[in-house]
Amino acid sequence: MLAIIGGSGLSKLGNMEVTRRKVARTPYGEPSGALTFGRIGACDVVFLARHGYGHTIAPHEVNYRANLWALKDAGAGEVVSIASVGAISSTLAPGALVLPHQVIDYTWGRHATYFEGKGTPVNHIDFTEPYSRGLRAKLVAAAKACGEAVSEQGVYAATQGPRLETAAEIDRLGRDGADLVGMTGMTEAALAREISLEYAALAVVANYAAGRGDSQRAVPLDKIGAVLEEAMRRVRRIIEQLCK
Ligand code: HPA
Repeated sequence: MLAIIGGSGLSKLGNMEVTRRKVARTPYGEPSGALTFGRIGACDVVFLARHGYGHTIAPHEVNYRANLWALKDAGAGEVVSIASVGAISSTLAPGALVLPHQVIDYTWGRHATYFEGKGTPVNHIDFTEPYSRGLRAKLVAAAKACGEAVSEQGVYAATQGPRLETAAEIDRLGRDGADLVGMTGMTEAALAREISLEYAALAVVANYAAGRGDSQRAVPLDKIGAVLEEAMRRVRRIIEQLCK
């Protein structure tokens, strides 16, 4: 089964035939919302809205451990995570789709491992390549097959949020080698690896990061909704193709 985690701008999948919803419980608490089960083309799919169905859970408050655990427990083997991001690299603009291949983690204080607490053995996962190579390749092929342009590489900087960054912070992330910036990608990727879920992110550029492009003096938050709405149409097409 394919799991899809929807981010800002994608709290449901219009092209999914929904069969049932399930409120899941996990040893780590409750996920962001009920799991939605159904079909897209030939795939059995389970969908979860990362920020809750009413978009009420901030990035640093998401129970990532419960979300990934619930998807695994429901029978998912692969997870496609949709995440909106800001563009740091000058080669990216709002509306662009990117399949990041690397992550730099700037978050703090999040529950980012299942291997902690009394009686739990220490375990160091390999994270050299944080995203599933196989699933990334399938997404690249799906995008090509339906004629949607995606950047096939990108370094994702995960910031703590919920505030956006300062221009100086974005300059620093750029010097570190980051191409895009978001607030959710990293915690999910590491947890997915810990429980052997194949995980890849499809990042949707919502805006120029602070101090770049038309965000020189402020990030134009009022424009983001329309950008995401249009881009999510393309995301749905890629997922539909992935499920053919
Ligand atoms: N910064 C961090 N996260 C984001 C941004 C951004 O500019 N845009 C969308 N998610």
